[in-house]
Amino acid sequence: MKRVFSGVQPTGSLHLGNYLGAIRNFVRLQEEGNESLYCVVDMHAITVWQDPAELAANTREVTAAFLAAGLDAERNIIFNQSQVAAHAELAWIFNCVARIGWLNRMTQFKEKAGKNRENASVGLYVYPNLMAADILVYKATHVPVGDDQKQHLELCRDIAQKFNNDFGAEVFPLVEPLIRDHAARIMSLRDGTKKMSKSDPSDQSRISMNDGADAIASKIRRARTDPEPVPDGTPAGGTRETRPEAFNLLEIYAALADATLAEVQAEHGGKLFSEFKQALTDLAVARLGPIGEEMKRLQADPAHIDSVLASGAERARAIAAPVLDEVFRTVGFLRP
Ligand code: TYM
Repeated sequence: MKRVFSGVQPTGSLHLGNYLGAIRNFVRLQEEGNESLYCVVDMHAITVWQDPAELAANTREVTAAFLAAGLDAERNIIFNQSQVAAHAELAWIFNCVARIGWLNRMTQFKEKAGKNRENASVGLYVYPNLMAADILVYKATHVPVGDDQKQHLELCRDIAQKFNNDFGAEVFPLVEPLIRDHAARIMSLRDGTKKMSKSDPSDQSRISMNDGADAIASKIRRARTDPEPVPDGTPAGGTRETRPEAFNLLEIYAALADATLAEVQAEHGGKLFSEFKQALTDLAVARLGPIGEEMKRLQADPAHIDSVLASGAERARAIAAPVLDEVFRTVGFLRP
């Protein structure tokens, strides 16, 4: 059976990259009728400092974004990580399976820890082990994510394989990343060589899922481009490498319109960017506007969001418990 798991950190407003690279694909998978778990990973969030009140608000906001984007809380299991202790329990086992050398190769740790690595939390270092536990505690087989999570999923496979080898038991499946060709890496609006990110200090670099029409319009108008017209697919129109900002806007348009890059180029190639940006603004407002409105409506009722999370956590615990039991017995821990 295909079991889908994915997680999103509650560390600030969700942006177009999170939506197009991940959340929208969760909604598509729902139409395939899979048993899927979508987790607000609050334990991952605290690997860097989070203000407690903001963390709680952001956890509700990500939940609201899941629901507003179209995830059904009955057909899927929506919950926050810290309510299911099995994640932390399996993560400890994986801390003892994963090798320091493996973690030393994680580029995201290097980026997030920056120059002052000695002062990074230990949690940030073992972050990928917790991520592997998130997935494997449900024996999930498919993980929809953006391109930036690829290396973490490879580590998840390494951990599963080493555990199975060490104990001579086929406990864990090897997960398949579900990374789409399209929109798997949405870039910053200010710099087409950097990915769109919650941690970018410039709010102008990203469109948030709950930005209003005015904010969307002004961010797109001010998005960096070059003096050339919109790439038209011919060699003269350049490539992603030579015109990263131009292609990023095309890619965003294609993803929002559910079209291919070639289709968008056929329609808009050769136009001035001012004109294309207007079309992109209209499209983004049409797609994101209703989601942002629905997020606001849901966030006005935190008790409802909390009840979605509580019932999701209960269902998640029921799936995780027998897996954890199997793991503990395999390791040699005495159980009643
Ligand atoms: P996070 O919270 O940074 O991002 C959530 C999802 O959004 C995708 N994403 C992007 N996609 C395209 N373009 C972008 N610019 C962009 N920025 C972010 C991410 O790839 C991700 O799919 N470690 C994870 C959370 C996590 C997780 C898991 C994911 C914890 N446990 C288990 C899958 C399975 C993270 O920090 O995502």
